[in-house]
Amino acid sequence: MRDVAVIGIGMMKWGELWLKSLRDICVEAALNCLDDAGTDRVDMITIGTMTSGIFTGQEHLASMVPDYLGMRHVPAVRVESACASGGQAVRTAFLEVASGMSDYALAIGAEKMTDIDGGGATYALATAADQEYEAFHGVTFPGLYAMMALKHMEKFGTTREQLADVAVKNHRNGAKNPHAQFPFPVTRERVMTSVMVSDPVRLLDCSPITDGAAAVLLTTVEEAKKLGKPAIVISGIGHATDTIALAQRPNLYELPAVKLSGESALRMAGKTIKDVDFVEVHDCFTIAELMVIEALGIVEQGQSGPATENGLTAMGGKCPVNPSGGLKSKGHPVGATGVAQICEAVTQLRGDAAERQIKDARVALTQNMGGSGGSSIVHVLEVK
Ligand code: COA
Repeated sequence: MRDVAVIGIGMMKWGELWLKSLRDICVEAALNCLDDAGTDRVDMITIGTMTSGIFTGQEHLASMVPDYLGMRHVPAVRVESACASGGQAVRTAFLEVASGMSDYALAIGAEKMTDIDGGGATYALATAADQEYEAFHGVTFPGLYAMMALKHMEKFGTTREQLADVAVKNHRNGAKNPHAQFPFPVTRERVMTSVMVSDPVRLLDCSPITDGAAAVLLTTVEEAKKLGKPAIVISGIGHATDTIALAQRPNLYELPAVKLSGESALRMAGKTIKDVDFVEVHDCFTIAELMVIEALGIVEQGQSGPATENGLTAMGGKCPVNPSGGLKSKGHPVGATGVAQICEAVTQLRGDAAERQIKDARVALTQNMGGSGGSSIVHVLEVK
């Protein structure tokens, strides 16, 4: 396998982008990425979206995106892994370059979620759950994560306040991110009195409905050097799946796919979690961040609530979690999230994160999750 570097990243302001279409946001993120890379050489394109057909009516992005990017005839493939579709797009692009199939692979993640109403978006998202055993009976994603939260609270004594602390931290970080959908701080009290969605999950425990895209350009380390680019290398990738339905799991307070994908990524990179300077993780709900940092081994099982309350995961803490603001504050256009996590990791590793810069960051880990943990993709990135 060849060593693979990220040489370009492309983000854009996320939110309710009523004046932009799905094709506009894909093209905008991709052009920002190529501009950043300083090259427009692209041998193949991967596109991650979860369900563009339900959200916008548009499928066949593998033809539409190259066409409107001015790259007609370039091979392209669309990948889907629910909310981990973006991570899957990066992983697929990595395999293209690592295997020698392509020298330059562009990974784009996108979702345009606000063209339909809230009920439509809830239905679209619930297609990532088990249709026969979950969605058919009326379960939604806030409902699934609410069940996990209740079990975690019962088993480990995790408190309502500690769930709120995840949102407080991520909004504090997101307030310093110019791309964030909700770049404002919130207090514990505001989170705990926000509208109830599915007990104990309240509005401010949820990631929002978002329009947005992100892109990264990958090539070999040798090519990156020729272009005079800093070598930010993807040194580890882990990918694991789990049952699509929560009811088939041994328990509701653990995320085995996250644990397995984290272990394989770190093994491939020759690192342990202690070597990682910061992480971007899939906080689609506040409980998700707590369970993910336990699964990755950042804290012991059951200790994520107290650790968050005591500042371990805050900027300046032992292991900052979600310096970008995470899904909670930055937004969660489902297909784009995994790609945007790589953009944040690279921004930090380049030392370009301005007000939210983590000092001397050299090793980053990103974790992107599909559904209620039915799939998880982890990337380890480092400055070489
Ligand atoms: N965080 C902060 N503020 C939010 C928010 C969020 N997650 N979601 C909505 N808001 C704000 C809106 O900006 C709006 O503010 P305004 O009144 O000042 O304009 C207000 O709250 C109401 O917004 P609205 O769009 O009407 O909310 P909604 O009730 O339709 O949707 C949720 C709220 C929580 C149900 C929706 O965001 C949701 O389903 N989130 C989860 C998404 C999900 O499941 N993703 C997949 C994860 S696996």
